[in-house]
Amino acid sequence: MVVSGARPTGRQHLGNYHGALKNWVRLQGDYRCFFFVADWHALTTDYARHEPIADNSVEMVLDWLAVGLDPDRSTIFQQSAVPEHAELALLLGMLTPVPWLERNPTYKEQREQLTDRDLSTFGFLGYPVLQAADILMYKAEVVPVGIDQAPHIEFTREIARRFNGLYRPVFPEPATLLTETPKIIGTDGRKMSKSYGNAIYLTDQPAEIHGRLARMVTDPRRVRRHDPGDPNDCPAYLSFHRLYCTAEELRYQEEGCRTAGIGCLECKEITIKHVQAELEPIRERRARLGPEDARAVLEAGNARARAVAAETMADVRAAMGLV
Ligand code: TRP
Ligand code: SF4
Repeated sequence: MVVSGARPTGRQHLGNYHGALKNWVRLQGDYRCFFFVADWHALTTDYARHEPIADNSVEMVLDWLAVGLDPDRSTIFQQSAVPEHAELALLLGMLTPVPWLERNPTYKEQREQLTDRDLSTFGFLGYPVLQAADILMYKAEVVPVGIDQAPHIEFTREIARRFNGLYRPVFPEPATLLTETPKIIGTDGRKMSKSYGNAIYLTDQPAEIHGRLARMVTDPRRVRRHDPGDPNDCPAYLSFHRLYCTAEELRYQEEGCRTAGIGCLECKEITIKHVQAELEPIRERRARLGPEDARAVLEAGNARARAVAAETMADVRAAMGLV
């Protein structure tokens, strides 16, 4: 069993695609999968600006379908439509020592970074408990996530162990399946992120994609066409060329860069061709989908998830002496 979730951030970009979705699509061939819209998680940090959550959820699910998540093979659902997640989080909270939550690295980091809002809330501190509930509800064996989420999966294992020891073995301890792709860099050289405005979206038009990549930052030493550069100092190379180009193309780009034999645009055109080829079928599938498709997929997925959640909760309640 595989479980993973994502906050509803709306239209998906290449960072989401390479960092998670591509992996999810691959996994659904080998495992029973549950993929969900973590809308309650969005409220842990965005409780004061919740308006876009519903629309963002629909947009995100449509992109999931467009990249090839198959609702016949994977259960695609919405966290808030399965209230058992809240019940399990409440019950796991009974056995969660507060210091385990306070030492969570993302808790400290985000409280320092997101200074525009008050994150001294119970919900934000308890975020990992909710995430553990999401995972344990489906008795996941494998959780595919990026490295930033690894401490949360480790916490989930600790809680599972504690539960199994205190009551009886109900939960397997889930393994972390790290996404191999390094962080996709955005067009300004920082991590690709919706909030930085440096992202390339799956649904962007070809001309837009071309324009954004053509303007992407490169080795700053290549000021003029005849200035040589170093691919290792070029965000376009480190993120995009390496990810998309063949070994032969990379050799040509490296050589041309170091000798100023090619210009940055010529170098990038090789990569852009691959990006366009990858996104074309996704954009076509996406164009044939509308909000009603997302809603139908979620409705069916929510029902499937609830059926599994009901079974797990019956076990959990019995183990904790609640019947
Ligand atoms: N915390 C994850 C993130 O911010 C989203 C998430 C919520 C998740 N519940 C999960 C991921 C369960 C994997 C499994 O990206
Ligand atoms: Fe980057 Fe290619 Fe320009 Fe070199 S030539 S700086 S690798 S885009």
